[in-house]
Amino acid sequence: MSADGLTGRHVVVSAGPTYEDIDPVRFLGNRSSGKMGFAIAAAAVRRGARVTLVAGPVALPTPGAGEGDLRRIDVRSAAQMHAAVFAAMPADVYIGAAAVADFTPQQVATGKIKKQPGEPGLTLQLVRTRDILADLAGHGLRPRVLVGFAAETHDMERYARGKLSDKRLDLIAANRVGMAGSGFESDDNALVVYGAGLECALGPAPKIELAGRLLDLVAQRLEDDSPASGMAETR
Ligand code: C5P
Repeated sequence: MSADGLTGRHVVVSAGPTYEDIDPVRFLGNRSSGKMGFAIAAAAVRRGARVTLVAGPVALPTPGAGEGDLRRIDVRSAAQMHAAVFAAMPADVYIGAAAVADFTPQQVATGKIKKQPGEPGLTLQLVRTRDILADLAGHGLRPRVLVGFAAETHDMERYARGKLSDKRLDLIAANRVGMAGSGFESDDNALVVYGAGLECALGPAPKIELAGRLLDLVAQRLEDDSPASGMAETR
């Protein structure tokens, strides 16, 4: 194992938004650019990991192309992202950096929805999507380290720690959205990573630098979990 702790590990990263189709020309989306997830994938490849990057609709080139072992799978919807992440298992690490839609239209209209004269509005019936992280946490093929992201506008620690325990994650990286120089479209970000007995503020810094520091924490968790470290502790 290298000092970076990820050599030869299979790391699956999800990135970007999902688009939930309403009809053939409209969808529900969000403002995620995918930059954070792509930076994590690039940093993991550089550390010798075997990376599967599951990307929602983003306008970004494949990171680390030609530098190492990276496979990119492009998807559109939350359901497709769920299927692609599960198809990529088994993995040592899953980092859910994607902003997965929580709701999707119950039905996709086959033709373009037209406004009717005199109709005051339109009600869309939405249903919950399946939670990729929570489903992985309860799965027989659960990766050893599960990392989630929490974008919050307020009460960041409370909501992030809530997700950490509800989704049974090892780490959660929280960022405050709506602040200048951080969040979805920015090249920089500031994160607070929470875990059992852990609170670690990272940045503000370029996303590629934050990605490296987040992977340090992931590698540390993998090492803590390894049979060799268990033996060392019981000696
Ligand atoms: O609950 P919330 O959507 O805020 O949690 C965000 C985290 O959960 C992110 O890591 C995101 O990738 C993940 N998530 C997921 N599947 C969903 C919704 C969110 O894996 N359906």
